[in-house]
Amino acid sequence: MAYSDIPQVVEIEQQVAFHPWTQSAFSESIKGADKCWVVEYGNQVVAYLVQSIYTEESHILNLAVKGARQGQGLGRGLVKKACADASRNGVITILLEVCRNNLTARQLYESEGFLVFGRRSNYYRSGGRSEDALVMKRVLKPSSVTTQ
Ligand SMILES: CC(C)(COP(=O)(O)OP(=O)(O)OC[C@H]1O[C@@H](n2cnc3c(N)ncnc32)[C@H](O)[C@@H]1OP(=O)(O)O)[C@@H](O)C(=O)NCCC(=O)NCCS
Repeated sequence: MAYSDIPQVVEIEQQVAFHPWTQSAFSESIKGADKCWVVEYGNQVVAYLVQSIYTEESHILNLAVKGARQGQGLGRGLVKKACADASRNGVITILLEVCRNNLTARQLYESEGFLVFGRRSNYYRSGGRSEDALVMKRVLKPSSVTTQ
């Protein structure tokens, strides 16, 4: 993801994300050490994933696919890419938070080997409402992580 992608990314974010990130949140991720993957068709961003990587731990911070492109394997492809890249960089554990009610994302993560291991009460707050997050974790086995 380049800084010039951010307006397109924020537009998608506002359309599909349960708790949309702001322009400055993406900007901070690019400026910092986060990995910010995008999928483009033509010059149009259609999906993205933001991932922090520490020595042996990675955190998937954001993932979204443009509405018209959902259900075509792009989300799964990005999760596989993130796991494979983390594995190559020596990461052992990948963590993420997902809204408890986001069954689509939960199914995706579960089918990619993530297991629920915790819950954060009232983690997402907006407009006077709050929702719990589930914390999911995948332990990587270097030899078995592929992008296929
Ligand atoms: C969640 C999201 C990233 C999934 O990306 P996607 O490209 O649509 O998903 P994929 O086509 O790769 O499908 C992966 C799996 O997700 C699940 N899934 C996808 N669409 C689904 C739907 N409409 N209903 C239920 N499960 C669904 C399925 O388990 C699917 O696997 P399958 O095709 O083998 O059945 C996407 O729907 C999205 O951007 N949602 C809004 C933002 C969001 O919730 N981000 C996650 C924050 S933690």
